Amino acid sequence: MEDKLLLIPGPTNLSPRVREVMARPQLPHVGSEFYSMFKETVGLARYVFKNAKGVQYVFTGSGTIGMESSVVSLVSHGDRTLTLMNGYFGHRMLMLNQVHGAKAGSLEFEGGRAADPDSLRKELRKNSHSVVFITHVDTSSSVMNPVAELVDECNRAGVLSVVDSVCAIGGVPLDFDKLGADIVFTASQKALAGAPGAVLIAVSQRAIDHMEKRKAPIESYYMNLLRWKPIMEDPRMYLATPATQVITALREAMLELKEEGIENRWARHKKLGELTRSRVEGWGQRFVAEDRHRADTVTSFWVAKENAGEVQGTLEREHGIMIARGLYDDKDKMLRVGHFGILSVDQLRGALDSLGEVMKQLGTVPGDVHVSSASMKR
Ligand SMILES: Cc1ncc(COP(=O)(O)O)c(C=O)c1O
Repeated sequence: MEDKLLLIPGPTNLSPRVREVMARPQLPHVGSEFYSMFKETVGLARYVFKNAKGVQYVFTGSGTIGMESSVVSLVSHGDRTLTLMNGYFGHRMLMLNQVHGAKAGSLEFEGGRAADPDSLRKELRKNSHSVVFITHVDTSSSVMNPVAELVDECNRAGVLSVVDSVCAIGGVPLDFDKLGADIVFTASQKALAGAPGAVLIAVSQRAIDHMEKRKAPIESYYMNLLRWKPIMEDPRMYLATPATQVITALREAMLELKEEGIENRWARHKKLGELTRSRVEGWGQRFVAEDRHRADTVTSFWVAKENAGEVQGTLEREHGIMIARGLYDDKDKMLRVGHFGILSVDQLRGALDSLGEVMKQLGTVPGDVHVSSASMKR
């Protein structure tokens, strides 16, 4: 199979080192080799999250397991919760709250707008909520929310906060201890540049206390964060068979990240984001996300003539580069370029040259700005 350059917003390209460890003989999940490797992985996750104070989890499952284990572990039936939505993944979080019996409210920010701390403050003054759910970067719209300010509002109001940082951690500055959120999670296949299949979750002591004190039991076996806690401390205990190749790949990817240095990694992603935005501006395309809230990990823009599919197909066929389209109703009107992981600025520059050429060749012109994104509601 020929190598393609993945510029989709996950999964991302794997380094030769990560690919090599995945091809090694099967490593059993019992035995000292895996135990020490797993402990090291949890330690590396602490480094990536800057989590010295909270509990750190790594286990098998995709990012959605991070979303659902946060909801099911913190929320009891009938609790009032609030989800801030500016894209498809915010809406998924709202749905998960509904599925698990919350009186789930939402503040919706449409048309590429970021969640606004003033609106959150007003809502928290008006109504009481037990948990607020925030998406750091919504991958569908590429809006980056002002997470620190939003979490501050939650803390001032004495409300727990959960941050879905699946499309941010590793590519965007985040310091779990300083942020003061109660849960922050990500998945292995995005800016950390691991293979898909592992979820990484940082949890505050306050959230653990909340789970321990709740009256109703946590209504899940696998997604119960209290059940996983002792395993993180002592991986010799068995709960469920980990995807050992995925965990080994994640460890290798995080070792590479640590060698680069987390701050250098953020700085490289800033350059990747700036380069992409300057090209999109140069092409005259219209961004989906509002100014000042465009992520350094993914960039979305509207295309006219509904030819997103044609651009995507031609770029893959003729240049071996994969980008993404919008989700559901936006699939013909929107293109999304993922720029994270091990991608270098030069690699991205070359790929954007090719994308520019393809759009020119196909006569792609700037698309209308779609104020309301119907694809959010799936
Ligand atoms: C912001 C965000 N949250 C959650 C998810 C869900 O992750 P997964 O597809 O790994 O279940 C994604 C996936 O792209 C995402 O981008």
